[in-house]
Amino acid sequence: MKLFAPQQFTRTAIALHWLIALLLVGQFAFGWLLDEIPRNTPARGWWINQHKSVGLVIGVLILLRIVWRLRHAPPPALPMPGWQRRAASASHLAMYVCMVLMPLSGYLASNFSKHGIKLFNVVKLAPWGSDDKAIYTLFNQTHQVTAVVFAVLIGVHLLAVAKHVLVDHDRLLSRMWPRAAMR
Ligand code: HEM
Ligand code: HEM
Repeated sequence: MKLFAPQQFTRTAIALHWLIALLLVGQFAFGWLLDEIPRNTPARGWWINQHKSVGLVIGVLILLRIVWRLRHAPPPALPMPGWQRRAASASHLAMYVCMVLMPLSGYLASNFSKHGIKLFNVVKLAPWGSDDKAIYTLFNQTHQVTAVVFAVLIGVHLLAVAKHVLVDHDRLLSRMWPRAAMR
């Protein structure tokens, strides 16, 4: 039996949290900037394939993160009102769901289009689905709607962290901060 519960997330959880956060912010910007590139041009195809490829790499990191999280419990919650603890758990879970839905919907949409995926514009992955406009649109819309929901959740997450740092003056941020991690 452990006498003291660890007070930080594990080093791996922290590394994955920050790496994925950084990549996701870039990938959001990338996705929204794609709208600036005219449709049916070679340039658009090239950039879309880069977006798809980076997105798949992020998807693999997210899977790793989820497997790690399931095998390594987070540190016990800091003292706070029950509703805040429940809101934190619910929003973290919702962010994990969005982290799965973003790459998954993009991947599924790509496989119901004749374009498929050309990994980093080098390796062509032939689509395993039919070229079906309706199914493509369904997954593509899931991708677009999830992006907006996820962006709002990330905004709320940042506000919550700011509240802990600036108002509560507790050590919430240090639990997820690289220097503080001991294991
Ligand atoms: C794309 C951006 C981000 C995403 C998707 C994200 C996602 C998450 C998730 C899912 C958790 C829950 C961890 C778990 O219990 O397994 C978490 C925890 C945390 N995040 Fe983020 N995060 C992002 C950016 C940030 C940023 C910019 C900060 C700091 C300003 C931050 C600070 C924290 C802290 C301090 C915790 C730990 C909360 C605790 O101790 O319970 N996150 N994040
Ligand atoms: C991993 C995280 C990902 C994030 C955060 C992300 C984010 C975005 C965003 C914000 C857009 C713009 C949506 C809009 O115009 O409203 C977008 C578009 C797109 N994404 Fe992703 N994406 C990710 C992964 C992927 C993956 C893995 C694929 C495919 C394998 C993909 C394929 C696409 C395509 C094809 C579009 C353009 C849709 C269109 O303009 O019709 N994405 N993405």
